[in-house]
Amino acid sequence: MSKAVEKSIHILAIESSCDDTSVSVLRAEYGDEIPKPLSLSVQSQDEVHRLYGGIVPELASRRHLQNISSCLEKALKESRISLEEIDAFAATSEPGLIGSLLVGQTAAKTLSFLYSRPFISCNHLESHLMSVFLGRAPEFPYLSLLVSGGHTSLYVVRGYDEFELVGWAIDDAAGEAFDKSAKMMGLGFPGGPEIDRLAKGKKLGTYSLPSIQTEDLTFSFSGIKAEMKRLIDRLGEQIDAPSLCADFQEAVLNHITEKLLFALKKYNLRRIAIVGGVARNSRLRDLLEQWKIEGQYLDELYAPPLQYCTDNAAMVGVLAYRKYLRREFSSLESDVGSTSRPAIKRKARG
Ligand code: KG4
Ligand code: ZN
Repeated sequence: MSKAVEKSIHILAIESSCDDTSVSVLRAEYGDEIPKPLSLSVQSQDEVHRLYGGIVPELASRRHLQNISSCLEKALKESRISLEEIDAFAATSEPGLIGSLLVGQTAAKTLSFLYSRPFISCNHLESHLMSVFLGRAPEFPYLSLLVSGGHTSLYVVRGYDEFELVGWAIDDAAGEAFDKSAKMMGLGFPGGPEIDRLAKGKKLGTYSLPSIQTEDLTFSFSGIKAEMKRLIDRLGEQIDAPSLCADFQEAVLNHITEKLLFALKKYNLRRIAIVGGVARNSRLRDLLEQWKIEGQYLDELYAPPLQYCTDNAAMVGVLAYRKYLRREFSSLESDVGSTSRPAIKRKARG
């Protein structure tokens, strides 16, 4: 059990690891295990990167610089909390694009120095894992599937601060496979939501895509992506994009659900949480809801509200609050990193 706090605590958190600038102010009352967001401001850069069909790091960091002040102002105004009332300033430190991370980190460190409050640096993957607590509180232990644009991994979660990494991707992340396949089909960016939308209600089985078999808890999406390329090159204009979206999505989700099933059995669990951008996928949510209704493998499914699946500062604030309770503060000389510390491979707490 964590040490209880004596008064309400306010955290200001910043997320800028990739292409979204986000700031959130959160409050926890005495004894709360998880804080509540009072505000969340997110400024997307989709219109910048859409032109290139992928994120251009140099443009992302410049846009973060342009967005950070207004994003901060908006989040503070919406929360009705002043900077003097903030107890700790937090920012994502890794993994991510270095130039992008530096913008959020520098802003949080500057505020922490100016207001003499602790600075807390946060791991992006741990923040995604904590995002589930912004929805219906999960009962421990459970299996957590993190599926985003940069990561696909599985964790056994035994407590608020106790995650064990048990599965990971050996090539592309799930969201990356969605985005790259959408780009091949000439669809918009990011491609995940577009594929989800086009695939809705479409009959399956028009196109045959490989169901990748791996003997363990590793994920691999490169085979599906390569087959998509072959199909598109061969059939060109004759492709029926919505049907291809449906078959592609099903192949990706079949692979994911097969691994989930394997992990549920291996770790003797009956509860799943899904987090990260791909956790917004309507077909994934439907498939797992169906498992829950049938009751054969699953008793509970937890997923954060949609706005907390994709990158956002509220999830950073939840992790920062947990670190605040543990007095895990960071030095103003601490650095940012493009990759996760190796410790995250075994235990999310680094
Ligand atoms: O978590 P996130 O915002 O960023 C990373 O940390 O990577 O995830 C973004 C990813 C993108 O690849 C996007 O295409 C995917 O989440 N995504 C979806 C959906 N909404 C977002 N993928 C499939 N279906 C969706 N509805
Ligand atoms: Zn993310």
